[in-house]
Amino acid sequence: MAGSILRVAALLVAPLLVNAVKITETSSKLTFSNRHVSFDIRKSNGYIQNIIYQNTNLLGNVSGLAGQMYTDWTAGGFSLVPNSSHEIFNGSDWAGIVFTDNNTATGGFVQRSWFLRDDESGLHSFLRLAFFNETNPVQGVLGESRTMFRPHTDLWTHVVTNSEQYASHCLLIK
Ligand SMILES: *[C@@H]1O[C@H](CO)[C@@H](O)[C@H](O)[C@H]1NC(C)=O
Ligand SMILES: *[C@@H]1O[C@H](CO)[C@@H](O)[C@H](O)[C@H]1NC(C)=O
Ligand SMILES: *[C@@H]1O[C@H](CO)[C@@H](O)[C@H](O)[C@H]1NC(C)=O
Ligand SMILES: *[C@@H]1O[C@H](CO)[C@@H](O)[C@H](O)[C@H]1NC(C)=O
Ligand SMILES: *[C@@H]1O[C@H](CO)[C@@H](O)[C@H](O)[C@H]1NC(C)=O
Repeated sequence: MAGSILRVAALLVAPLLVNAVKITETSSKLTFSNRHVSFDIRKSNGYIQNIIYQNTNLLGNVSGLAGQMYTDWTAGGFSLVPNSSHEIFNGSDWAGIVFTDNNTATGGFVQRSWFLRDDESGLHSFLRLAFFNETNPVQGVLGESRTMFRPHTDLWTHVVTNSEQYASHCLLIK
């Protein structure tokens, strides 16, 4: 009796694990989702839109740069726009994407990664920057690399990174 209950439980659980992190694709975006959260990634620049957590859009609607989460480099040499490619990685209970921009014009190399695990409500994020040319062309000084969580919704009243970087009822967070 106990044995058959366990078998039924295993049958119910197995499909959930196989589909733990689902990926769907259109011509312009990829959507990653598990049973708690989903988010879209623009293929053209790696920007994240529509982080939906329990039916609430944490970023709000896109308006200009607002309503998105993205990394940029104010000094200009590093980027994900001019020449990025992307690759999807997955395991039985996780999936993720790595955007690579090997910009031979500036000598700047960027890899931007986002991963989602089964049963977690948060995203894992990794950023890798490199200079691959010691002579020319040279990217120059890095300056600043910033990852922006830039909501466009009244949901957030205060967003705090540290004592110097914070915002209240404001759309720009550094
Ligand atoms: C986003 O746009 C939709 C459709 O116009 C609107 O119904 C919704 O209220 C907007 N969401 C926010 C957070 O502004
Ligand atoms: C990764 O995704 C592919 C395509 O959906 C699937 O066939 C494969 O089994 C997945 N790999 C693992 C380890 O789950
Ligand atoms: C980036 O491109 C340069 C020039 O083609 C090449 O030497 C280098 O190996 C590339 N780097 C990576 C990590 O692919
Ligand atoms: C973009 O990639 C192509 C093919 O790898 C390369 O020929 C071209 O120089 C790259 N452009 C820039 C701006 O890095
Ligand atoms: C570095 O830049 C020089 C000059 O443009 C070029 O000759 C050389 O091939 C580049 N090296 C790499 C690894 O891209």
